[in-house]
Amino acid sequence: MTKNRILLVTLMVAVTFVASATVAMAGPIVIKFSHVVAENTPKGQMANKFKELVDQRLAGKVEVEVFPNSQLFGDNKVLEAMLLGDVQLAAPSLSKFNKYTKSLQIFDLPFLFKNMDAVEKFQQGPVGQKLLMAPKSKGIIGLGYLHNGLKQLSASDPLRVPADAKHKKFRIMSSDVLAAQFEAIDAMPLKKPFSEVFTLLQTKAIDGQENSWSNIYSKKFFEVQPYITESNHGVLDYLVVTSLEFWMDLDEGLRTEIKKALDEAILFGNNIAGQKATDDRQKIIDSKRSEVIELTDAERQLWVDAMKPVWKQFEDEIGKDYIEAAVQSNN
Ligand code: SIN
Repeated sequence: MTKNRILLVTLMVAVTFVASATVAMAGPIVIKFSHVVAENTPKGQMANKFKELVDQRLAGKVEVEVFPNSQLFGDNKVLEAMLLGDVQLAAPSLSKFNKYTKSLQIFDLPFLFKNMDAVEKFQQGPVGQKLLMAPKSKGIIGLGYLHNGLKQLSASDPLRVPADAKHKKFRIMSSDVLAAQFEAIDAMPLKKPFSEVFTLLQTKAIDGQENSWSNIYSKKFFEVQPYITESNHGVLDYLVVTSLEFWMDLDEGLRTEIKKALDEAILFGNNIAGQKATDDRQKIIDSKRSEVIELTDAERQLWVDAMKPVWKQFEDEIGKDYIEAAVQSNN
C-alpha cells in the first residue's frame, strides 16, 4: 500500500469511528408529553400508558417523559412550545386550537352531540378524520382523538334554567364559540388557563365554570362549587398532536412503531373515559360537597333553545356541511 493509500484508509476508519460514537452519544429520541390534567384522568392515564408501551418496545431508541398538571407548559403555551421543539406530544382540549384552525370549533357547538357514541362516530367518520389535519398549515398535526366526556355546569348558585346564569361570570377555555355560548344566556365568559380555575372559584373571582366529571373531580372543583348542573351541553375531548417537523424527521420505521403505541394508548384512554365519568360523578355525589342538579326535559329544552342559535353564528367559519355531518352522527 502506498503512503497516501494508508493515510486515506486511516482517515476513513477515523471518520466512521467518530460518526458511530456521535450516534451512540446522541442517545434515544426524547418525546416530552406535556398536559394540564391530573394523572387519574383519561388523558393522564393515556399518557402514562403510552410511556409504558414505548418503554417496553423501544427501550434505548425512544424515551417518553410525561409532565402532568401543567408542570411543563400551561394550555396557553404548549402549542407554541411544540413549534419551537420544546415539547413533542400534547393533547389539548379541542377548544384550544383557535389560533391554529377555525374548523375544530365544531366540537364546541352547544348541544351538537347527543352522547359520546355520536362524538366517536363523528370523529372516526370522514369529516372527523379530515379534521385531524386541520392545524397542519400552522405546523401542527393531529394523531388521534382522545375522549374525556360531556361537560357539566358548576356554579356557586343552583342553575336550573338559563336565566339563573344571567350576569354570572364563567371561566371558559380559549374558544370564541364557548364565549358566544355564555353570552347567549347573558352570562359573562372569561378565558382563563385550566391551572387557574380552582383558585378563581375558591376566591369567588368567578361564579362558575364548565367541565367534564373527571376534571371537576380530580381538580377538586366540586369542593368549592356547591352546585353542579348535569347539563351534558357540550363535549370535552382532545386532539393528540405533534409538530409536523418532529414527526416527519423521524425514521419511518420508528414513526410507525411510535404511532402504533400511541393508537393503543388512545384506545386504552377512550375505553376508560366513559366509566371514569360515571365513577367520578358518583364520588362527587357521595362527597356531599356539591349537589348534582338533574334537569327535567322542559328545563333542558330551555338551555337548548337559548344556546343553539350559536350554531348559526359560526356556520360560515366551521362549514355548514361539517355541522350537518356531525348532526347525522346522532342517528
Ligand atoms: C383539559 O382537560 O385538558 C383541560 C380542560 C379545561 O381547560 O377546562
